[in-house]
Amino acid sequence: MSPFLLTRTLPEDATGAALRADVREGLTGSPKTLPPKWFYDAHGSELFERITTLPEYYPTRAEREILLARAGEIAAVSGARTLVELGSGSSEKTRHLLDALTGLRTYVPVDVSASALTLAGEALVAERPGLEVHALIADFTARLTLPDTPGPRLVAFLGGTIGNLLPAERAAFLASVRSLLAPGDALLLGTDLVKDETVLVRAYDDAAGVTAAFNKNVLNVVNRELDADFDPAAFEHVALWDAEREWIEMRLRSRTAQTVKVPALELAVDFAAGEELRTEVSAKFRQEGVRAELSAAGLETVRWWTDAQGRFALSLSTAR
Ligand code: AVJ
Repeated sequence: MSPFLLTRTLPEDATGAALRADVREGLTGSPKTLPPKWFYDAHGSELFERITTLPEYYPTRAEREILLARAGEIAAVSGARTLVELGSGSSEKTRHLLDALTGLRTYVPVDVSASALTLAGEALVAERPGLEVHALIADFTARLTLPDTPGPRLVAFLGGTIGNLLPAERAAFLASVRSLLAPGDALLLGTDLVKDETVLVRAYDDAAGVTAAFNKNVLNVVNRELDADFDPAAFEHVALWDAEREWIEMRLRSRTAQTVKVPALELAVDFAAGEELRTEVSAKFRQEGVRAELSAAGLETVRWWTDAQGRFALSLSTAR
């Protein structure tokens, strides 16, 4: 078999249809919202890569510290022969894991971006003779069908991206991940932890303004894809901590009263001066909460690791 395979499980036009549905629903609802997955066009992905290098944005470095320290243990406990990575993007942080998983035969990166999958997949098979890469173009929040690859399987969902899902969505997501696992298979999950409010807010409102540009980029995406006329400068970047729900929210606050046209949806959207559009929820977790959510999905937490400063956690759980 060829060492690099790419399987499309999403129809070519699925992304466009999903964007139209999300924008219609989000801009006609109250309060207005847009889902964070639309940040990540080529420019947005580049901005996110820059965010991960900012002094204020600690999650990427904290998770890398844990992965580096624990990769061997992850390999030993999971015994994985197949690694499935949900939202693999550039597969950059996966390299430590791939190095440590000595019994690994197959890597299954899952992402909505065909270009990121091809770029990363072809580089990996070139670097690692013997490794088979079976990339899946898929939306990991929808039902997944995995290729038939050797077990045990380790499913990795890193970066704290699970925090972008609302609690009910998280429960559904974890249940669907659980349904991909056979007894003995494992989930490696990255979760950002509850901490001092100032540290959290700064991570989402950096001094250089990269996160503000990232947030506003969703307006450029809607402009380009749906012919809308959002003026990003007419909105202000907002990051706030919701202490009750223990999540960060990013919003875009309309500086003035304005009407935005979205011709592809035959929509005119009125914003009041000061009205806010929610663009992201990034939930922060506690150990007991993660354990309970995993358990509710039929997953038993067998390892819990944090970075030295206790900012971020990786958990390893197995299918019961
Ligand atoms: C990629 C979802 C983990 O929530 O911290 C970074 C995205 N948003 N800065 C996060 C993000 C603003 C990031 N995740």
